[in-house]
Amino acid sequence: MIGKKIIKFDTLDSTNTYIKQHISDLESGDVVVAGEQTHGRGRRGNVWASESGNLYLSFLLKDNMSRDEQFNVLIKSSLSVFRLLRNHGIESNIKYPNDILVDQKKISGILIETSGYDKLDWIVVGIGINVNQKDYKEFDIPATSMAKETERKYNLDGLLSEFISIYNNIQSDKMALLEYSKNLTFIKKTISIDGNSYEIFKLDEFGNLIVKNEKGAKTLPFKDINIEF
Ligand code: BTN
Repeated sequence: MIGKKIIKFDTLDSTNTYIKQHISDLESGDVVVAGEQTHGRGRRGNVWASESGNLYLSFLLKDNMSRDEQFNVLIKSSLSVFRLLRNHGIESNIKYPNDILVDQKKISGILIETSGYDKLDWIVVGIGINVNQKDYKEFDIPATSMAKETERKYNLDGLLSEFISIYNNIQSDKMALLEYSKNLTFIKKTISIDGNSYEIFKLDEFGNLIVKNEKGAKTLPFKDINIEF
């Protein structure tokens, strides 16, 4: 359960950084949201440009979690963004592991940070959703926003409550994985492994990618996957 407590700021360096700096004062499920971020962080050390008008939120989980739980959290977070967009008439796909794209343009990104190895001390999930911004500089991946897709303006508090409620209402990790898996950009695409072609079939419950061809199936470990589709 997330969002029992929501801490709001007009400006922060980064909602993920704030949680990490206040980890012992915060409780599991606390949500931090900022109107804008001066040092928004993306995956692989990238900058997440964070002008006002978009949703920048992070939440903390620190309930004695296993490393596998990190995968469930990733699935649930991506799926919640996917469902939120669909609620507003925006059809998206999930670029593995957790970029949300509309027609190959990025509308949301998720940065998950953890501490611990087998047993995790905490997980911080940071989510950026492009909401009301209309103009984007050219990045590696082109960007879009909810407003660009629908020509509407959104209330950020309303979207935050909606996100929290969608996340909290995901009951089954298995069903979540199934829905997540169906909406990945690369399902049914063909990849080449050691000179042989395989069709990407599904993601299993451990986050492994199962690929198939006429000779059989192969399991590709989660950490080794780097597919660009
Ligand atoms: C990515 O796609 O690279 C992940 C982007 C994650 C951005 C969000 S915005 C809220 C939270 N605070 C941060 O500094 N980053 C995440």
